[in-house]
Amino acid sequence: MALLEVQDLSKRFGGLVANDRIDLKVNEGEIVGLIGPNGAGKTTLFNCIAGFYPPSEGNVWFQGKDITGLPANEVCLLGIARTFQLVRIFKDMTVLDNVMVGAFNRTNLAAKAKTKALEVLDFCGLSPKKSILAGGLTIADKKRLEFAKALATEPSLLMLDEAMAGLNPAETVEAIALVKKVRESGITVLLVEHVMEVVMPISNRVVVLDYGKKIAEDVPEKVINNEEVIKAYLGDKYHASRRAH
Ligand SMILES: Nc1ncnc2c1ncn2[C@@H]1O[C@H](COP(=O)(O)OP(=O)(O)OP(=O)(O)O)[C@@H](O)[C@H]1O
Ligand SMILES: [Mg+2]
Repeated sequence: MALLEVQDLSKRFGGLVANDRIDLKVNEGEIVGLIGPNGAGKTTLFNCIAGFYPPSEGNVWFQGKDITGLPANEVCLLGIARTFQLVRIFKDMTVLDNVMVGAFNRTNLAAKAKTKALEVLDFCGLSPKKSILAGGLTIADKKRLEFAKALATEPSLLMLDEAMAGLNPAETVEAIALVKKVRESGITVLLVEHVMEVVMPISNRVVVLDYGKKIAEDVPEKVINNEEVIKAYLGDKYHASRRAH
């Protein structure tokens, strides 16, 4: 069985169908890219998987367990962590304390949480900034901190919601390296990104949403040549930018 399996999942907000009968599998060890235009339902799907919203219909299975409708804290304890499109860091706390909040997912002991947080900060390259207030970080470091907080919960699946948006090219290269390092450490990754130069090279498979529906799912080389995907999304994004290179 896949690590994560979403079956026939729908999420409605009143009359709006944000997720429309979506099936999705993420196998252990994969990096899966989730793409699609603004409003396609990517973040909503993350919210349904991670327990922030109950799905209207359908199921979510994780490690063979039906986790549909479980609250976010329980989903996190089972091993799913996510980052937020709009970073949710505690501005008036230090970088270290922010990461310790994540680490308290697995322990009540401050000393243990601190050890874990320091280890994660080192892994993410944030150690030199551990004592500064999170509000004073650059955008790139805030994104990195969001990442570190999620890792500190010790997930087996990490879901990244536009973790690289707003980064410059050099910062993007570093963020990609970090995602690869996460995968090498044994954590499976599901990632939402609009920057195709990021998604395509690192994803084993890419899933495309449009108006709440899954319109394609394949290896990156096939997805970038899929007519429906080009029409719905990639047309003016990936192909245009490639031509410009
Ligand atoms: N809590 C909510 N209440 C009502 N409508 C919502 C809610 N959350 C999302 N929606 C709507 O659901 C649809 C899908 O939104 P979602 O945020 O999942 O898209 P997205 O693919 O993440 O887009 P983006 O690329 O802009 O982040 C949109 O039409 C959005 O307005
Ligand atoms: Mg979104």
